[in-house]
Order: sequence, then C-alpha cells, then structure tokens
Amino acid sequence: MAGDGIQLGLSEAERHTDTSQRDREFELLDLRWDLLPGVFAPHNSRSTAAYTSWLPIPAGGTVLEMGCGAGVTAVYAALRGARAVVAADIAAAAVENTRVNAARHGVSDRVRAVRSDMFAEIGPEERFDLIFWNSSAIPAPESFVYTRDIEWSLFDRDYASHRAYLREAPRRLTEGGRLFLGFNTNGDVERLHRLCAEAGLRAVEARSMTTTYNDGATTTRFMLLELLPADSGG
Ligand SMILES: C[S@@+](CC[C@H](N)C(=O)[O-])C[C@H]1O[C@@H](n2cnc3c(N)ncnc32)[C@H](O)[C@@H]1O
Repeated sequence: MAGDGIQLGLSEAERHTDTSQRDREFELLDLRWDLLPGVFAPHNSRSTAAYTSWLPIPAGGTVLEMGCGAGVTAVYAALRGARAVVAADIAAAAVENTRVNAARHGVSDRVRAVRSDMFAEIGPEERFDLIFWNSSAIPAPESFVYTRDIEWSLFDRDYASHRAYLREAPRRLTEGGRLFLGFNTNGDVERLHRLCAEAGLRAVEARSMTTTYNDGATTTRFMLLELLPADSGG
C-alpha cells in the first residue's frame, strides 16, 4: 500500500513536470495564470480550483496560505476581498510563481510570498483569520530523500509537515479564526485523524469531491477539512 502511494506520487511528479505537456500559462477559476517550471500545476489537479472556491475567504480579513505553489488560492483570496495574504512555500520557484501571479492580477500590495518550511519564517506574532494548506498528502517513509522540488507537492516524509501544521497553525489564528486542510485519499486518512487527535484537534469535512485520477482507474476523494479543537461541540 505504502509502495503504491510512492509510485502514484512519482508518476504525479512526472505529470506535473512533463515539459511536453506543460503550459507556461493556464486558465483556472475564469482567470489566466503563469506557471513556472517545477511548480505544482494547478490545472492538472482538480483540487486547487475546488478548495479555492470552497474556502470561506474572510472579507477584509487576513489569510495564510501554506504551500502556495503557483499562488492561485492566495491571489484569489486577495481578489475576493482578503485584506492581507501571506503565501508560504518551501520551494523557491513556488514563491516566485506566487509573486508573478500576484503582480499579474494587481494584488502585489496584498499578497506577501515567503519561502518557509511550514511556519519557520512566519513572524511568531502574526495572526490570521483563515489558514489553509492544500497538503502533500502521500506519506513517504523516514528514509525518503527529496530529489526535486516538485516532490514536496506530493509527499510528506513521515508526515513531519502535517504534524508541524497541526501543532503550529492553531496558535497562529486570530480569535474566531478558522483552520482548514485540503487532504485526499491518496494520503493516509486514518493516520491524519490520529495526528489531529494528538494535536488536540478534530477534522470535520466541510466539502468533498470524488474524481478519477490520471490513469482513469484510480479514484481519489478530495476533502476540505476544517480543523477544530477536539473539545469543541458538534
Ligand atoms: C499539493 S501542492 C499545492 C500547491 C498549491 N497550493 C495548489 O493548490 O495548487 C502542496 C504545496 O505544499 C508545499 N509544501 C510541502 N511541504 C511544505 C513545507 N514543509 N513547508 C512549506 N510548503 C510546503 C509544496 O511545495 C507545494 O507547493
């Protein structure tokens, strides 16, 4: 099972970087976007558009998009009324891509892109009304070595980034702020729920969508999960 996940992730990494099929520009959410080499291609996955349109963007509020990739969700949030957006990614090309798309859509004044391994470079005092990560859901073993930046878009070694997100993100919310995770069934859903419980959280499905993956045979469910305190009602 774990091996299947790695194989799927590696073939997805190929699909996202295949220059013969790869566009320098793409259309999503009725807008045109730039795509830089090596960055997760949002139009090759139905997840980006779905999560972006499902998220309750706080009008006049602050948003942190973790793992921004090409910057679609971060830029869209600014276009939809967020006052200030921080877009973070571990991959330098993703940070640059987000800056390019923020400029393209005239929201550079409201979107700050930073290179950061999870919250490492996010100021400890910064607080957000909404935090979201369309996560790299496939668990890779502790021995896994990342050889290309695109692999950060598919794999999370030993779920270290998920654990950091679940531990850190709740502390970075404003009072009343909301925390979301985009996860899918190529990942280990049971393990995610265990990690949530360890972090004092529970994951509640806000929206989901089932889609057929690249080969026409694999079915994947994409879930927008809201992460709530474990002891909250409901
Ligand atoms: C599934 S992709 C989503 C990209 C983009 N948000 C989208 O929806 O098109 C996951 C993103 O998370 C980033 N990422 C993975 N691990 C990270 C970490 N530890 N810190 C920051 N970003 C990370 C990857 O580089 C990648 O851009």
